[in-house]
Amino acid sequence: MTPEHQAGADGWAVETSELRCGIGGRSVLDGIHLRIPLGSFVGVFGSNGAGKTTLFRSLLGLEPLQGGRLRLLGRDGVAARTQVGYVAQRDPPGADSFLSVRSYVAAAWQAERWGFGDAGRADAVAAALQSMEVDDLADRPMDALSGGQRQRVRIAQALVNPVRMLLLDEPLANLDPQAQQRILEVARRLCSERGLTVLMTAHDINPLLPHMDRVLYLANGKGLLGRVDEVVNAPSLSALYGLPMAVARDGGYVFIHPAGGFMAEGAAHCGHDHAAPESGEAE
Ligand SMILES: Nc1ncnc2c1ncn2[C@@H]1O[C@H](COP(=O)(O)OP(=O)(O)OP(=O)(O)O)[C@@H](O)[C@H]1O
Ligand SMILES: [Mg+2]
Repeated sequence: MTPEHQAGADGWAVETSELRCGIGGRSVLDGIHLRIPLGSFVGVFGSNGAGKTTLFRSLLGLEPLQGGRLRLLGRDGVAARTQVGYVAQRDPPGADSFLSVRSYVAAAWQAERWGFGDAGRADAVAAALQSMEVDDLADRPMDALSGGQRQRVRIAQALVNPVRMLLLDEPLANLDPQAQQRILEVARRLCSERGLTVLMTAHDINPLLPHMDRVLYLANGKGLLGRVDEVVNAPSLSALYGLPMAVARDGGYVFIHPAGGFMAEGAAHCGHDHAAPESGEAE
């Protein structure tokens, strides 16, 4: 069953209209319309500063909404935020280096909130470690992990509670293609087999192409959400960026760039993007 068919009355993981959000009191996104079906895997793209992190933090209630309407997992506003696991773009510095992987994941277990009592902790930690294929690392100190291992452990921590959605902010950054694929494959399985909704920001669209159901591009304070073929084409991206954009395909790779070539800051390129636009829309 495709994600579209799962979207009933409350079948949207994220539903927004005219959403306005910002960070640190600054307005970043304005007029964002989204309808993200439950159980879908959405890649979120946009140049540095486009507002990807701001959107995630706003969906989680970490930044106050500046306007518009938000429903998350069928509930108004951010009431359902406890059912959303979040892996931030950056860790707080040095916060966990001395912990073992098992203790790091266990530290996020919210026994009281879920009413499971502390007894469920070991099972929840074991399941989370297994989900991310890091069970063999359980006794390692956090500061003795590779970058790819660390990212998988960070996602395991976000999964230790019974969440229904994951917001993963740049989990592929600085990883080699194999480590990226490992994370993408697990994220895909979480959607397909467990019905989780996953939103993942990234700078290169290519590694996500075989895995994601939807793409969300952010630029100029607006957003464009849809299937890859609906969004990743010259007319759609030109409208969003407010300048002529070109989309080239070569050997299965997508390259997105300003139609005139790379110029000033604010233009886009190979699936990474860097730009500016106009209308916000979903599907
Ligand atoms: N704490 C803050 N206070 C004020 N402005 C901020 C703060 N954090 C980010 N900004 C600004 O908000 C805008 C959106 O930033 P955001 O971090 O959401 O972008 P992003 O798309 O996640 O970028 P990146 O790809 O670099 O992670 C930028 O102009 C940024 O400079
Ligand atoms: Mg960011």
